[in-house]
Amino acid sequence: MQPDAPRIAPDDTLWWLEEAEPAAAWLRAKAPVFEYQPGVRTVARYDDVRTVSRDPATFCSSKGVLVLDPLRSGHTSSPVDAPSVLFMDPPEHAQFRKLVSRAFTPRATAMMETAVRDRTLRILDEVPGPDIDLVEHIAVRLPLQMIAALLGLDDVAETTFRFWSDETIKAADGLRADLSVVGEFVAFMMNGIAAHRAEPRDDILQLLVDAELDGRSLTDPELLVFCMSLLVAGNETTRNLISGGAVALAQHPDQRDWLAANPAGIDHAVEEMLRWVTPIKAFARTATRDTTLAGSPIGEGDYLVMLYGSANRDERAFGPTADHFDVRRRADPAHLAFGFGEHLCLGASLARLEARVVFEELLRRAPRFELAGTPVRLHSTLVNGWETVPVHLRTPQ
Ligand code: HEM
Repeated sequence: MQPDAPRIAPDDTLWWLEEAEPAAAWLRAKAPVFEYQPGVRTVARYDDVRTVSRDPATFCSSKGVLVLDPLRSGHTSSPVDAPSVLFMDPPEHAQFRKLVSRAFTPRATAMMETAVRDRTLRILDEVPGPDIDLVEHIAVRLPLQMIAALLGLDDVAETTFRFWSDETIKAADGLRADLSVVGEFVAFMMNGIAAHRAEPRDDILQLLVDAELDGRSLTDPELLVFCMSLLVAGNETTRNLISGGAVALAQHPDQRDWLAANPAGIDHAVEEMLRWVTPIKAFARTATRDTTLAGSPIGEGDYLVMLYGSANRDERAFGPTADHFDVRRRADPAHLAFGFGEHLCLGASLARLEARVVFEELLRRAPRFELAGTPVRLHSTLVNGWETVPVHLRTPQ
């Protein structure tokens, strides 16, 4: 190990953002492919993350995608005995993904704008005062409500749903899961599946219940895992894009003011928030054969952890201003916050829509919102997020 190399273990600084960028910068400069445990390597540069992501034959997903998967027996993290689409390889992966992809196209998502805006306005109406925790009162609520409604699994209290979703992510992000809580979530979803079978509805769960794969219906575990993946993937990710985007704007008041005065710039601003925040820290692949990456030999079975946050600050891709937050940055090259290639985030259009509408409405009501305390980071190897973001919602004078 090189003497100035960062320490990379689940509790170490690479996973804590304040410390992560110097460590990531070191990796990009000195060890773009870095073996931090025998057979486990980080991939830190933009081009290399793309190379790995675009070649599922050489770098597969079926042997684990989460940072901690190699530490778990059997390389899986699912509490239910069926693989999630995240953990599939071609050709099975495309077949499963196709079952719901039409519900998430940019066109299908555009039809959701009225619902997203109505919910956003209601959420903003319900904030208890000018001093709030933006995570609790805004960022948690919209993605949770939207994905539960889209799936047709919204007949439960929002707080219960949040608890289940958060516990499921914790199960994926830790070595000790509270499976009893996940069990309640599973029971709730099984009831939802039964209700959809008995009385068809117009939602994404119905698409899955009615789906045929090689002439058969999906099994209960397959349905459960698909629902769970969508519910969980659609929640903490977008929550932390909103929380992290708000922190970035509050910490860069010139850019916040510019965006409030130039709402047409919101699409670029959301792309920059995605690049800057990078709500998912890393996903991984396993090499299916001996190969090389960035000049480093990779052995069959090696586990490659793609550091999306590092790739998104790579000066080789984003130039000398890569470490500046700039809501007017050109969208080319595209950031890797949604991954790349076969597994490119299915919910990307929905996440973009939710973030756009939240910031349009937030900046309309409170164009000069500011931090009212120190935001507290979430402890996670998966999600780059915030536990709390205290803000003061200053209204226009
Ligand atoms: C800002 C918000 C989001 C971020 C940063 C994000 C990030 C990602 C990333 C990096 C991947 C790639 C996984 C890989 O390559 O192994 C991914 C895949 C996925 N995302 Fe998202 N996501 C977000 C929002 C959503 C939403 C709202 C949904 C659901 C409605 C969703 C559903 C999925 C699914 C199902 C996959 C798996 C796709 C596949 O394996 O083919 N995501 N996401």
